[in-house]
Amino acid sequence: MGVTASLVFAITVATIGSFQFGYNTGVINAPEMIIKDFLNYTLEERLEDHPSKELLTTLWSLCVAIFSVGGMIGSFSVGLFVNRFGRRNSMLIVNLLAITGGCLMGFAKIAESVEMLILGRLVIGIFCGLCTGFVPMYIGEVSPTALRGAFGTLNQLGIVIGILVAQVFGLNFILGSEELWPGLLGLTIIPAILQSAALPFCPESPRFLLINRREEDRAKEILQRLWGTQDVAQDIQEMKDESTRMAQEKQVTVLELFKSPNYHQPLLISIVLQLSQQLSGINAVFYYSTGIFKDAGVQEPIYATIGAGVVNTFFTVVSLFLVERAGRRTLHMIGLGGMAVCSVLMTVSLVLKDEYEAMSFVCIAAILVYVAFFEIGPGPIPWFIVAELFSQGPRPAAMAVAGCSNWTSNFLVGMLFPSAADRLGAYVFIVFAVFLVIFLIFTFFKVPETRGRTFEDITRAFEGQAQVGKGPGMEMNTVKESPGNA
Ligand SMILES: *[C@@H]1O[C@H](CO)[C@@H](O)[C@H](O)[C@H]1NC(C)=O
Ligand SMILES: *[C@@H]1O[C@H](CO)[C@@H](O)[C@H](O)[C@H]1NC(C)=O
Repeated sequence: MGVTASLVFAITVATIGSFQFGYNTGVINAPEMIIKDFLNYTLEERLEDHPSKELLTTLWSLCVAIFSVGGMIGSFSVGLFVNRFGRRNSMLIVNLLAITGGCLMGFAKIAESVEMLILGRLVIGIFCGLCTGFVPMYIGEVSPTALRGAFGTLNQLGIVIGILVAQVFGLNFILGSEELWPGLLGLTIIPAILQSAALPFCPESPRFLLINRREEDRAKEILQRLWGTQDVAQDIQEMKDESTRMAQEKQVTVLELFKSPNYHQPLLISIVLQLSQQLSGINAVFYYSTGIFKDAGVQEPIYATIGAGVVNTFFTVVSLFLVERAGRRTLHMIGLGGMAVCSVLMTVSLVLKDEYEAMSFVCIAAILVYVAFFEIGPGPIPWFIVAELFSQGPRPAAMAVAGCSNWTSNFLVGMLFPSAADRLGAYVFIVFAVFLVIFLIFTFFKVPETRGRTFEDITRAFEGQAQVGKGPGMEMNTVKESPGNA
């Protein structure tokens, strides 16, 4: 079973969706000052008075964070699209949202409209939320089983490359200038158009055709073309078997998930792991690092931000190899611990920056290492563990709950960080350090190792706890170390 040109083409085109998510996450970082000036200027015209600093900070945070509200709406709506229109057509249709959002943001300056900017961020957030559902699904369904894991990681890579590109384009001699920043935000239209032009040449997901549409011949034909082999009968059979199995295992709703005591423990773990990803403060860095570096007295803060993007991309690749080899739980704890140490270092360096000049380098170094630790642990691990804690039946509901906690906490961090930073100054990172230590302790006592274990095995461990009803930490550990689970 080979990798054909049409398979690579289909996956590349789909990954543009991940790129879009990354791009729009990173794009407001560099032009922070310029956009704040725009808000200041626009409001001044309208109010015929200087807007207060608080009002400006709140509006700016809203421009940044409303993206996550859109993301949540989008990630909840994935199901409305994929089974009705198919995977490929869903990706095609939602590019209309990207174009609408891009236009709203791109023309906000000419129209002198803060509302257009905020609305544009909301719409583009909805689009990105949808993409985070569509892309992994499509990639998973067109890839041969043996390569599914490897291709799946391209989604993550697309995201971090998107962040990096946004940071580079944010340089003030490229698009991050007072005149051109609307172009920087509106640029998201170009990948949308490219993807819309290329998607008609990509096949529909064979799994969708087979299971949802019952078009076995077309599914077979597409598989043969994508995988460059005639011999796909076995895979078709596997898809059918899987679908019968899924039909047998009743789909658990979100409500049932919360009601059944058997799910309480894994659900708690899933939610806390998502919180640990977001409350680690990573998006404070991805949204606001240029401002942070500027406060630290760095001469050209944008280059430090780009440095963070490069480290992020590099360690995403490193972690692709690590997660296959090391335990999830261990990696997550290493990541959290490392991030906590770096947060303390950031605070110390920001506090002492006036006494010692070298402190601005310590600050940069701390942020870069912090990003590296994120990509080793809290970045990739929560998704693996959530997927591995639940079997087919409850998994979609569990993923939805996890996604919701992800976007909610993402919104809170995006919204609260600028005011918190105004109020606490350098000490704002101590807040993240405290969260990180709490999550580290939680992971140590509550999170089981899931790598290489079956659902039955993990589920039984949780059920045992629910019956005995005492501290789970010990039992998880004994289960983990009992022979035959490796
Ligand atoms: C807003 O602009 C005015 C000048 O028009 C300036 O004096 C004021 O400091 C600005 N406010 C902020 C918070 O940047
Ligand atoms: C959760 O947030 C992280 C960081 O912002 C992101 O990489 C990840 O894709 C998000 N997950 C979903 C489903 O949106």
